[in-house]
Amino acid sequence: MGFSKTSLSLLLLSFHILFSSSDATSRIPHRQLFQKTPTFSPNQQVNIIHGDSVDFVPGKMVEKNFSFLGGSDKPSIENLGHHAGYYSLPSSNSARMFYFFFESQNNTRDDPVVIWLTGGPGCSGEIALFYENGPFHISDKSQLVPNNYSWNKASNIIFVDQPIGTGFSYTLDDNDYSRDVTSISNYLYDFLQEFFKQHPDFVKNDFYITGESYAGQYIPALASRVRQGNKDSEGIHINLKGIAIGNGMTNPLIQYPSLPQYAVDMKLITKEDQDQINKLIPPCEDAIKSCESEGGDSCFTALTQCNDIMKNILSIAGGINYYDIRTQRDGELCYDFTPVETFLNDDSVKKALGVLEDLYFLACGRLANNKLIRARMNNFEDDIPALLEDGIKVLIYAGEYDLICNWLGISKWVHAMEWSGQKQFADSKTVPFLVDGAQAGSLNSYGLLSFLKVKGAGHMVPMDQPKAAFQMFVNWLDGTLNERSV
Ligand SMILES: *[C@@H]1O[C@H](CO)[C@@H](O)[C@H](O)[C@H]1NC(C)=O
Ligand SMILES: *[C@@H]1O[C@H](CO)[C@@H](O)[C@H](O)[C@H]1NC(C)=O
Ligand SMILES: *[C@@H]1O[C@H](CO)[C@@H](O)[C@H](O)[C@H]1NC(C)=O
Repeated sequence: MGFSKTSLSLLLLSFHILFSSSDATSRIPHRQLFQKTPTFSPNQQVNIIHGDSVDFVPGKMVEKNFSFLGGSDKPSIENLGHHAGYYSLPSSNSARMFYFFFESQNNTRDDPVVIWLTGGPGCSGEIALFYENGPFHISDKSQLVPNNYSWNKASNIIFVDQPIGTGFSYTLDDNDYSRDVTSISNYLYDFLQEFFKQHPDFVKNDFYITGESYAGQYIPALASRVRQGNKDSEGIHINLKGIAIGNGMTNPLIQYPSLPQYAVDMKLITKEDQDQINKLIPPCEDAIKSCESEGGDSCFTALTQCNDIMKNILSIAGGINYYDIRTQRDGELCYDFTPVETFLNDDSVKKALGVLEDLYFLACGRLANNKLIRARMNNFEDDIPALLEDGIKVLIYAGEYDLICNWLGISKWVHAMEWSGQKQFADSKTVPFLVDGAQAGSLNSYGLLSFLKVKGAGHMVPMDQPKAAFQMFVNWLDGTLNERSV
C-alpha cells in the first residue's frame, strides 16, 4: 500500500496532497514514491480496463462460492459459506462493486449481518479482511492463516471494495466515480438492497454497519441513507440496529485541532512546538467552516490547510508511523501490504473470486481517493443523533496510539454531540473494559452510545488487539457492552 513520506496517503485518511503537486485527476503515482510497492508503475492504469470485456447489466449481482483451502481433508466450499461477488450498480454507466461475503461460523441463520467499510478513501476492504477481522490473516509470505478472532465467528460479514475504483471495484466511465459521500452511500444502499434480495433468508436478521478511519464519514452517511430508505419504504426494509466506527474521521473541525494536543501528550512534540503548531489551528478551522458553507474548492483548501498541522507535527516527530506512534514507518511506508497484493494478484486467486485478470489489485490506490479530494472535510457527526433517537446503537472506538485519528479528538466530538443523552453520557463514569480479567480499554456509555478507548492498539484495532476487538464486537452486538458501565 502506499504510505510514502511523499504521498503520506494511507489507510484511512490521505495526506498525499500535502506534498504532491499532482492535480486531482492524476491517476497513478510515480514508481519511485513506492519503492516498497513494486506493483506501481507510471503506466499502470490501475483498475481501469480498456474496452468493455464484460457485458454490463445494470442491477445484476453475480456471486460465487469459493474456497482458498484446497485438499480433500478440508471442509467443502459449501460448508465454509465463503462468497465473492460483483454488483453492477444500476445508477451507473458501468460501475461494478466487488465484495466478499462470509457466512457466520456460528449461527448462520440468526447471527446479524454486518458490513465493514475500510477508509482511505481508496483503501480496499481486503485490508480489514486479511489483516484485521476476516476469517484468515495473511503472512509475510502471502500464506493464509485462520484468524481465531474473525468477526464472522459471530456475524455474517460483508467486506466491500468501495468507493468505485478501490480494490477490485471498477468502472469504464469516469462519471461513475463517487465525488462525494452522498454518492458513496447511494451506491452502498443499492448494493444492500440487491444483497438482501439475493439473500432473502437474511432480511430478518439484525444489520450493522462497521468500519474504520475515513469510513467515519461513510458509516453515518450510509446509516442515514438506510434509515431514510426504511422510512420511505423504498425497497426491502433493512433491519439496521447499530453502527460502529473505529478510529474514524467523522468531525474534522474537532479532530484536526486535537492533533497538536495529542502529539504533546504523547511526547511526540514539546510544549513549545505545540504553541507554534497551534497557530495553524484557526486557519484550519476557518477553512473547514468555509468548506461547510461553500463546498467545492474551499474543501480542497481546507484539506490542505489542515494537513499543514499534521505535516508540521511529522516534521518534528520524524519517522513515526502516524497510525501507530509506538512504531516507526517501515522505510517510506507505514505498513507493508505487499503480501495481500501479491496474493490477490495471483491469477488463480482472481479466477476463484471471479475477478478479471486485467484488474490489478492495490491495497490502497489513488484513483478513488483523488475523485474525493473535495469531499473530505465535511462533518458527519450531525447524522448520528437522529440514529440514536431512532434506537440505533452507536459504538465509537479508538486505539490509543493512533495519531491521525486520535482518541482525544474522537472523544471530544462524541462528548460535544448534541442528543437527548448528552449530559448523562458526559456524566458517565469511565469504566474498565475487561478481557480475561485484564483491562483492555476504557469505556464511557449511556443509553445506546458507547465510546471505547482501546489499550495497546493503533489505528487498526482488530489487527493490533484481535481478541479485545472481537470481545468488544460480540458484547456490543449482544447488548452487554454498556452493561459493564452500570
Ligand atoms: C453456495 O453456497 C451456498 C451456501 O453457502 C449454497 O446454498 C449454494 O448451493 C452454493 N452454490 C453452489 C453453486 O455451490
Ligand atoms: C487459534 O486457535 C487454535 C485452536 O484453538 C490454537 O491452536 C492456536 O494457537 C490459536 N492461534 C492463535 C494465534 O491464537
Ligand atoms: C455461538 O453460538 C452459541 C449458541 O447459540 C452462543 O452461546 C455463543 O455465544 C455464540 N458465540 C459467539 C462468539 O457469538
